[in-house]
Amino acid sequence: FLHKLVLGIETSCDDTAAAVVDETGNVLGEAIHSQTEVHLKTGGIIPPVAQQLHRENIQRIVQEALSASRVSPSELSAIATTTKPGLALSLGVGLSFSLQLVDQLKKPFIPIHHMEAHALTIRLTNNVEFPFLVLLISGGHCLLALVRGVSDFLLLGKSLDIAPGDMLDKVARRLSLRKHPECSTMSGGKAIEHLAKQGNKLLFDLKPPMHRAKNCDFSFSGLQNVVDKIIKQKEKEEGIEVGQILSSAADIAAAVQHTTACHIAKRTHRAILFCQQRGLLAQTNAVLVASGGVASNLYIRKALEIVTNLTQCILLCPPPRLCTDNGVMIAWNGIERLRAGLGILHDTEGIRYEPK
Ligand code: KG4
Ligand code: ZN
Repeated sequence: FLHKLVLGIETSCDDTAAAVVDETGNVLGEAIHSQTEVHLKTGGIIPPVAQQLHRENIQRIVQEALSASRVSPSELSAIATTTKPGLALSLGVGLSFSLQLVDQLKKPFIPIHHMEAHALTIRLTNNVEFPFLVLLISGGHCLLALVRGVSDFLLLGKSLDIAPGDMLDKVARRLSLRKHPECSTMSGGKAIEHLAKQGNKLLFDLKPPMHRAKNCDFSFSGLQNVVDKIIKQKEKEEGIEVGQILSSAADIAAAVQHTTACHIAKRTHRAILFCQQRGLLAQTNAVLVASGGVASNLYIRKALEIVTNLTQCILLCPPPRLCTDNGVMIAWNGIERLRAGLGILHDTEGIRYEPK
């Protein structure tokens, strides 16, 4: 039997990634090049730098994924590539490369929405039927959506300012957590989780954001400002950097983590109730998928478990390697679209565009 085979290519942000996935969800080959090291040095992503790094790596990464899969390019059913949303310069590299390949191999092209790919990933690892709820929380994403079909999403809430991982990274930097030997190799959010175990979460009275807002949106910049003030105050009292007083840093980490967890859990609870009351989700055994780097936080997961238990839902999280940006999710989204017969382009003549 000939299975459908899709090559997926992802360059929306700072990872150059590719993978070959078959119809049943087997990952036949994958490769990724992360630019994190470079961007850490400059204190953030500089788009032309990201673009240059994608250019330098894309050929090799796609070749590696193809070689590992032992699939010859002529056997591919289609090429799927992220076309939005993301950094325009980064997206452009993946798109140009893919269009060349599509022309050369005479294969169908499937443009992929990055968020759709994140949301559908769970269907590669678990047998999850539509509809289900997805919570995407990372350094760059923050949204709650009802997934009704391959390309049928109802956006229920999003962050009005920054993403939770971005906020945790800023707090971690303010606390100089990278200087602590035990946290030096961890991301900001992971360092906060680690330190919070030694802290008292109740020493600072942080209010969960937007507790009166009757919607499912999020906000994290207010919390970040309050924490900044607390740190400044503390430093004034003590006369040294809070990062140097481990117990204070731990207390602050515990309070921020707790408040973040409460906020995320409450907004998610609202979304579940909204959907259940309107018959958009079943009263029992509806699935909540939590994905993204922040969803790997065990304290936040516990808070989500309380919510799913209360509402008789099932909490599922994709494995960490599929929670972050990767080529597998793009290829899988291509398979989903092939099977549903959605958005498959046989003529790419018109799409020499700059993606938004
Ligand atoms: O999904 P991800 O790897 O990349 C994107 O943002 O696209 O997420 C990274 C974010 C970072 O902000 C990091 O601090 C956060 O996820 N993070 C965590 C944890 N591990 C990673 N936040 C809280 N707790 C963790 N254990
Ligand atoms: Zn992403």
